[in-house]
Amino acid sequence: MNPADSMFIRACRRRPVEHIPVWYMRQAGRSLPEYRAVREGVPMLTACATPDLVVEITMQPVRRYGVDAAIFFSDIVVPLKAIGVDLDIKPGVGPVVARPIRTEDDVKTLRALQPDDVPYVTESVRLLVKELGEVPLIGFAGAPFTLASYLIEGGPSKNHDRTKAMMYGRPDLWHALMARLADITLAYLRLQAEAGASALQLFDSWVGAVAPEDYRAFVLPHTSRIFAGLADLDVPRIHFGVGTGELLGLLAEAGADVIGVDWRVPLDRAAERVGPGKALQGNLDPAVLLAPWEVVESRARAVVERGRAAEGHVFNLGHGVLPSTDPDQLARLTDLIHQIPVR
Ligand code: CP3
Repeated sequence: MNPADSMFIRACRRRPVEHIPVWYMRQAGRSLPEYRAVREGVPMLTACATPDLVVEITMQPVRRYGVDAAIFFSDIVVPLKAIGVDLDIKPGVGPVVARPIRTEDDVKTLRALQPDDVPYVTESVRLLVKELGEVPLIGFAGAPFTLASYLIEGGPSKNHDRTKAMMYGRPDLWHALMARLADITLAYLRLQAEAGASALQLFDSWVGAVAPEDYRAFVLPHTSRIFAGLADLDVPRIHFGVGTGELLGLLAEAGADVIGVDWRVPLDRAAERVGPGKALQGNLDPAVLLAPWEVVESRARAVVERGRAAEGHVFNLGHGVLPSTDPDQLARLTDLIHQIPVR
């Protein structure tokens, strides 16, 4: 079987499936002892630039859980590092930028991304596609708003205040920055698909911080351009953010094939908000996995029931796997989802 005929790709395309496909955001990572073992002493960005490690870490959850898709092991800041932004990923913190982007001159330092800037990404994707066989590989990138937040704030932020200060106070500068980030993101997603990735996910993790009218004015033009720029590739496009309940209709408008939903909005309501022609991905609260199995099972069954309102459903969590998650819970959950009849 070809990855293009897998249950995951079929669900993304709203075609009939024999079982509900499942994968987990952050399925590779600190919750796995085999991940912690291979990462011992290796900085995150070094791991991302080492194809053998990328392949091993990406494969770990596929072997352990039998999930329906692999997600490329990398990080959203990898293309920024590759064009020369001085940044690092600090354990337990996240991306930290040495000189935040706040002026016109700063924005001009963000040059276009060429495939030669990330040879290790192309090589890792190629190796993975061979290794995965019929299991599809999901390539990904960070969306302009989420990348802009890290670049402007200089690191993780709760309220994104400096980000919004630029958005409201310097719309010209904001749009110039967002346009450059959209170019980088589009180039980065395209090269992953051209190297063989079967689907692409755009992570706009922190965009739930903005109101709908501001999304329309300050974010939508840029995300729309990214999805339009991928339309000629024969790969489903997934769009995900956290806290996007009021934005779901606008995310759908941006043009993806699949809308990722966090745990705050029941999937049947999300289906109404995104409208026809979209598949949904989600949306078990990752914290449910910290409860006893009986709770996980009933909550997961409820997600599947509501997911029947969608034209296609890819089971996932509402955000990434928490590091304290017991991998055995994810193994049982994967088996459960695979056993539930599709009707
Ligand atoms: O399994 C997977 O999902 C693939 C790997 C993946 C990572 N980062 C690995 C990682 C993916 C898809 C990402 C994307 C990413 N990175 C996002 C979007 C997805 C999301 O979770 O919303 C964001 C916002 C980032 C930025 C970032 N990088 C954060 C918030 C962190 C965690 C900081 C921490 O230590 O708690 C990182 C680092 C990071 N990226 C880790 C992993 C496995 C942890 C670092 C480590 O293991 O040393």
